[in-house]
Amino acid sequence: MEMYDRLNACLKAVREKTDYVPDIALVLGSGLGAFADKMEAAASINYADIPGFPVSTVSGHAGKFVFGEIEGAKCVVMQGRVHYYEGYDVSEVVMPARLMAMMGAKVLFLTNAAGGTDPDFDVGDFMLITDHILTFFPNPLRGPNIDELGTRFPDMTHAYDPALCDCIRRAASDAGIKLREGIYCQLTGPSFETPAEIRMLNMLGAGAVGMSTACEAVAANHAGMRVCGISSITNKAAGFSKALLTHEEVKENGLKSAAAFEALVRGSIKNIKKELN
Ligand code: HPA
Repeated sequence: MEMYDRLNACLKAVREKTDYVPDIALVLGSGLGAFADKMEAAASINYADIPGFPVSTVSGHAGKFVFGEIEGAKCVVMQGRVHYYEGYDVSEVVMPARLMAMMGAKVLFLTNAAGGTDPDFDVGDFMLITDHILTFFPNPLRGPNIDELGTRFPDMTHAYDPALCDCIRRAASDAGIKLREGIYCQLTGPSFETPAEIRMLNMLGAGAVGMSTACEAVAANHAGMRVCGISSITNKAAGFSKALLTHEEVKENGLKSAAAFEALVRGSIKNIKKELN
């Protein structure tokens, strides 16, 4: 089936369960999913119940859409996402972002757990994503263009919407949360990086590295959404500390930052709601 037909079939399956039209789509990264459990959900849909929709296999990633209000804003929240390293084609990895655009969401707010490639970043820091490097990853728009969603050659100058970035900056400052800023580099994973790779990313100016987010940002920009994002720095990148990297550490440190993360996301959404009005 052509990708646009597949997306429309997914949209139909969603619409059979709920007619909720979100303004903001929020993607929760590894270990950050607890947020959605606290929401008063108007509806929720397991990815597995949407025919043709990619399903996450990673521990720490529940797989469902939760619909409901956050700080008065109508949201669809992804509790868990799929990754390229799971074996999906990149066009499938960005299906959720495209589907949420088709649901009506105007903003995509991306979050992830990431390694700090800026040696000044500490575990527990949050980094506002101001730009990304996706050069080492297949482009999610490769293949026939879906003209119904967007143009063949979309501009990426403001892949992370400057006004939305300001919404996050203000939320951090109002909540007294230290906010770093930097460039996020997405690699395929699933192996963590070597110290040599981290030195390279550092030379390229990257502040954080991970295995998600940037391809979703590209697909969302293509579909006309305004995008913003935050990385939760769950570990120093390879070579910066003696400790070896594990997924358990990433999840654990994600959980430790959960309360501050929630405050930051809530405050940001409050500001984004005003920005949209
Ligand atoms: N590298 C890649 N992805 C990650 C890391 C990392 O160090 N930490 C969390 N996700």
